[in-house]
Amino acid sequence: MNIARPVTPWDILTDKLTSLGKQAEHIENLDASFLKTLSESMVLAQGMNSYIGSMTTTESIGLRNLVERTQTEDWQKRFRDGDTTLGLEQEMVSGHIEGQFLKMLVHATQANAILEIGLFTGYSALAMAEALPIGGELVACEIDPYAAEFARRCFEASEHNSKISVEVGPAAGTLHLLADQGRRFELIFIDADKAGYSDYLDFVISSELLAKTGLIVIDNTLMQGEPYTHKNLSANGKAIEAFNESVAADPRVEQVVLPIRDGITLIRIL
Ligand SMILES: C[S@@+](CC[C@H](N)C(=O)[O-])C[C@H]1O[C@@H](n2cnc3c(N)ncnc32)[C@H](O)[C@@H]1O
Repeated sequence: MNIARPVTPWDILTDKLTSLGKQAEHIENLDASFLKTLSESMVLAQGMNSYIGSMTTTESIGLRNLVERTQTEDWQKRFRDGDTTLGLEQEMVSGHIEGQFLKMLVHATQANAILEIGLFTGYSALAMAEALPIGGELVACEIDPYAAEFARRCFEASEHNSKISVEVGPAAGTLHLLADQGRRFELIFIDADKAGYSDYLDFVISSELLAKTGLIVIDNTLMQGEPYTHKNLSANGKAIEAFNESVAADPRVEQVVLPIRDGITLIRIL
């Protein structure tokens, strides 16, 4: 099993504090109150995620197995072999807390139909499908056929498998097809290529894909802290920075940014 690297602002902060703590052990004559504050900061940071995890409803065996299968796969191999240019990695899995949060949103919106843009190995899709009523449907868009097939195999073991359909190809094309078919979704979860976020949101707002009282959920809107630290912005960081600013200035929507995992923005159309 591969160890995941820190990819959320909180985990990166915890990692840095832990590293400071280790460095401090080798520095002589450090002020006692400085060491006390550093130690308290480390305890605060290191304990939070495991506490949240232990106080949150446990994930299903199907979701747990999906995570383990994703962690065992060598995602870099396909990239090294030139089979894909997508930098897929196990850290993309949304995981327990975000998955449970999405499940709560499915219940709160009483969604019967969900659209997901960005499936990967299917954690968020399966989590939301578990919360759908019998007869509910989740349509998931995924550009990478290998990831789509991997997810499908993970879903096979679940009783919620029949609620999920996977559309393989660029999400933009799938969105147009679904809109042409007159499909409506009460919940739309956007978690694919960050450079495409603005176009996906614009299309959702201008089409009738979202039901009147529907909710749009956007993942990774804190992008490892890059949009607010403005340090060494990656292509994804720049895309999210621009996306967040355009949402904040958009009179068509109301939104809230939540510090769950790598940042989640909830949007409703006014
Ligand atoms: C962050 S991962 C999704 C994680 C997933 N929601 C989860 O919770 O495990 C993003 C996924 O979007 C896919 N993707 C990237 N660009 C895409 C596009 N243009 N259309 C559809 N899927 C795309 C990637 O292949 C990748 O599998």
